[in-house]
Amino acid sequence: MLVSGIPYRTIWLHEASVRIIDQRRLPWTFDLLDLHTVAEVAEAIRDMAVRGAGLIGATAGYGMWLAAQEAATQKELQSLADSLISTRPTAVNLSWAVNRQLAAIQAAGFQNRIETARITAETIADEDAASCAAIGQHGLEIIQAISARKPGQTVQVLTHCNAGWLAFVDHGSATAPIYAAHAAGIPIHVWVDETRPRNQGARLTAWELAQQGVPHTVIADNTGGHLMQQGMVDLVITGADRVTRTGDVANKIGTYLKALAAMDNGVPFYVALPSSTFDWTLSDGVKGIPIEQRAPDEVTEMEGITDSGSIETLRIVSPGSAAANYAFDVTPARLVTGLITEKGLCSTNEAAICALHGKIPNSN
Ligand code: MRU
Repeated sequence: MLVSGIPYRTIWLHEASVRIIDQRRLPWTFDLLDLHTVAEVAEAIRDMAVRGAGLIGATAGYGMWLAAQEAATQKELQSLADSLISTRPTAVNLSWAVNRQLAAIQAAGFQNRIETARITAETIADEDAASCAAIGQHGLEIIQAISARKPGQTVQVLTHCNAGWLAFVDHGSATAPIYAAHAAGIPIHVWVDETRPRNQGARLTAWELAQQGVPHTVIADNTGGHLMQQGMVDLVITGADRVTRTGDVANKIGTYLKALAAMDNGVPFYVALPSSTFDWTLSDGVKGIPIEQRAPDEVTEMEGITDSGSIETLRIVSPGSAAANYAFDVTPARLVTGLITEKGLCSTNEAAICALHGKIPNSN
């Protein structure tokens, strides 16, 4: 996507290193960062220099290319793979990408590991970008249908967190249909949940939409229900970090409450995801999906920029109070109107999800 008019992906190979956009400093500064070792890749994922399910997976894919260079034995390769998988627990794209690399290296033979891992990493990244582009076209159908029912009026979309191109290699999942609608000339406006505590909505989604020229408004996290009651939201689209074979959706904390409000107000609630975000081993998301808990200081502190341009972190919670930081929640399938995948739209039930992916229900 465009940054100051220049096309970028979020990650690419640069000489002997993996180059990323350092998302910890956005939107204040646009910095690139080169990762040279598996340890640096792991830290970039853990500290959220890269984040978002698709991009975490792609980064782990490139991390395995570095791992293939660092490992002299299969045991060392497995140990480096485990170190990547352990960085963040909820987004399933991480283990999916690492395991895909291990399988590719096993098939090609350990002696061919470096070139195999490079090709596989590039393939994972290319597929991620292509999947998001296809999600955009399938999701566009939903927005076109809403627009047809209110000709000449603006389609109002609400989104939570950042499932934009910064969360993937390109295009994004939840934002791809929005970008496609904007490009098709459909008048569209996005309500952007700020998404405490890390503010991915206020910082990243808002920045992305501004870069692409899409009209949007940042709202406090608890505003969505009111807007829906007042008929000011036509459609909710979020991303996902892990979706069970039955359609339960793990996404950024607060998504569940938006889905409840959408259901109460008859607002369609769609989840956009590439197929790499399905966890085919799980049927019950509430019981089975691991929910990451992060450092309490992400809740007690907030980062911002002063008028003079210095980036500062302030404590915003009463001194001495404890804070809990659950990073994700699970929205049960019954609250989700449908899934938007690269293979097409589908209902949130096991039969429909499996049929779309050529899998047999109740079987791994
Ligand atoms: O903690 P993050 O920023 O890695 O969380 C991921 C997200 O940005 C959201 O949950 C997103 O909606 C799904 S990831 C495409």
